Amino acid sequence: MYIGIIGCGVISAAYLRGASRSNYIRVKSVADIREEAAIAQASAFGVNATSIDAMLVDPAIELVINLTVPNAHAEVSRRILDAGKHVYSEKPLTVSLDDARELLQMADERKLRIGCAPDTFLGASHQACREIIDQGRVGTILSGSASFLSRGMEAWHPNPDFFFKPGGGPILDLGPYYITALINLLGSVASVVATSATGYATRTIGGGARAGEEIVVETPTSYSALLSFRNGARITLDASWDVWKHGRSPIELYGTKGTLVVPDPNFFGDEPSVSERDGDWVHADISAFPFGEPNRTLRSGREVADHRSIGVVDMAQAIMSGRPHRASGELALHVLETMQAILISATEGRSVSILSSCNRPLPLPRGTGERVFASADEPPACEVV
Ligand SMILES: NC(=O)c1ccc[n+]([C@@H]2O[C@H](COP(=O)([O-])OP(=O)(O)OC[C@H]3O[C@@H](n4cnc5c(N)ncnc54)[C@H](O)[C@@H]3O)[C@@H](O)[C@H]2O)c1
Repeated sequence: MYIGIIGCGVISAAYLRGASRSNYIRVKSVADIREEAAIAQASAFGVNATSIDAMLVDPAIELVINLTVPNAHAEVSRRILDAGKHVYSEKPLTVSLDDARELLQMADERKLRIGCAPDTFLGASHQACREIIDQGRVGTILSGSASFLSRGMEAWHPNPDFFFKPGGGPILDLGPYYITALINLLGSVASVVATSATGYATRTIGGGARAGEEIVVETPTSYSALLSFRNGARITLDASWDVWKHGRSPIELYGTKGTLVVPDPNFFGDEPSVSERDGDWVHADISAFPFGEPNRTLRSGREVADHRSIGVVDMAQAIMSGRPHRASGELALHVLETMQAILISATEGRSVSILSSCNRPLPLPRGTGERVFASADEPPACEVV
């Protein structure tokens, strides 16, 4: 399937690299409101640079990936659907819930599909956790915790202002990874209660051309929430940019028969730990699941598996074979509503019910990987002009 990419910023390289690993999709062209950004990525990856208008009337392109900034997601995805093409968006699906609902309705009316990042839950570690839960090894999950705690982005990001302004904050930035991982394991969220705080009134930019400049913080930077899932599980969620160091696991789930420690949902690899009843911790083997091998080194020196783009490959394969795709618009809408509910609850001091729900995405069975994601039929090469 030929695809296009709109938005040629930082994350586009991961998608262009990832797409080249699968025979199911072939990037035909890339576009950006900044023409120079599209030309740079086109020449780096051997694809065509084009205008957005030209991409949207190209009959060969069936699916367009939207990698623009969050505030542009709704408008760009709407144009893609209006042009009769499937859309896969980076997270969040949109900034406003009304826009997300409208996109899903548009797609439904046009018999098109919407997919959305994150796709990290398709990684080996999260699929291994899914199998552990589905096999009942830790029993029924009663409670648990999710924590994403750090000191924030101003120490290294050259333009970190938006993180600390309305629309920023840790829930909207990192929440999609954690909440999607929880929904993959536990199903839909029923309601949330939350509180918030702002640890520091200002932040000082640590590096780059603006080093030393102060940013006024205009959004809460710490949230504590309680997520009640429809299956009865209650998960506390702590999200903060006011923490120097901590010793918590990304996600811990406490079941009637044992405990499961879920690795970082921002990445695809790392071994989960399981204890049955009060037994010793056992590392779960993730090698039978796809997309767990490390392929990137972080600034900290930590090696991580980062296979962003497999969600769009799964979507293309699902369209061709007529099955549901896993990183779906319904899932992304439910994640967005849950995040918005946390913000509302923290502001208004009340419990907020979640109206939407979604099915847990289909698991990726052991030993799939290349078989699921690499087609035997090589699509014809497209001409780069
Ligand atoms: N950078 C990361 O590490 C990272 C990781 C995961 C997800 N994401 C998500 O990916 C998306 C893009 O992030 P990024 O870091 O690549 O941002 P970026 O600012 O580097 O790139 C965004 C690009 O979109 C273009 N753009 C903006 N509005 C547009 C419009 N209306 N039409 C066409 N092009 C437009 C910009 O010119 C820019 O080139 C965001 O939704 C972000 O949440 C980023």
